[in-house]
Amino acid sequence: MTEIPEHLLKRSKERRAALGLPGGEGGDSGSDSGSGGSDAAAPSPPAKAPAAAPVAAEEKPPPPPKPKPAYIAAAEKRKRIPYWAMPVVALLPVWAFIYAEGVTAPTQQDEAIVVGEEVYSSCSGCHLPNGGGGVGAQLNEGEVLATFPDPVAMMQWIHLGSDEWTGTTAAAPYGDPEREGGPRDTGTLPSKMPAFADLDATELAGVTRYVRENLAGEAPASPEVQELYEEWAQLAIDNAEEGELIYQDGVPPDPERVDLVAGG
Ligand code: HEC
Repeated sequence: MTEIPEHLLKRSKERRAALGLPGGEGGDSGSDSGSGGSDAAAPSPPAKAPAAAPVAAEEKPPPPPKPKPAYIAAAEKRKRIPYWAMPVVALLPVWAFIYAEGVTAPTQQDEAIVVGEEVYSSCSGCHLPNGGGGVGAQLNEGEVLATFPDPVAMMQWIHLGSDEWTGTTAAAPYGDPEREGGPRDTGTLPSKMPAFADLDATELAGVTRYVRENLAGEAPASPEVQELYEEWAQLAIDNAEEGELIYQDGVPPDPERVDLVAGG
């Protein structure tokens, strides 16, 4: 054993006292001082580390929730179906019906009807604007359709007027002799139907269609009938000039033509 100098023992003793370790007085500090220093330092980190870890784990605040993707956030914020949507959806068929009516109704008003309405201003003085009659015979409510089921016969009548059509200035029956409600007679009304020989085929077809379709209630002419009408008007003028009158001169009405105008 070597002698340890007094000042070293004293320093050792002071260190031990400072660290709070026992045996500060002991002389045998050779082995003690070497291991004592490492003993004090070594056990403390393992002892502290496990204790620190759980505390840290416990106190750590829960991780913030992941931010939602933008499309989910938008879907959650978005308003649901508005309260007025159901009535609007329920009324859609009604609107569709009204719309369809508005779009389809005017197609029957073709150019011939416009011409016919203009020509009818020469007739309305005796027959009234609505065809109700008075000085002239009643045309509306199907009356003229019963007198002249064949439109060519009606056009012959307009072209010739009462006296030329019947061939006499005296009272005489005219129109369809099989007429529902009895045949018409020129002696019924005080005045006579004048001739309208100046109307050309377009005007004659137009006024006849206007009277039949817009005043008397005949079905609007189909595109096929619209095309045929002017041809029929020319036929009526030509045959009237030659004295071949339907219902009057033994010329039969054309059943196909009667069907065509009646069916639209
Ligand atoms: C001056 C009056 C007068 C004018 C204008 C007149 N009519 Fe007439 N119309 C008559 C009279 C009256 C009758 C009845 C037959 C008769 O007594 O001569 C008649 C009969 C008719 C008939 C037969 C109706 C039925 O069912 O008995 C038709 C169709 C007709 N007129 C069309 C026309 C057209 C179309 C015009 C114009 C382009 C026209 N009339 C202008 C007086 C008139």
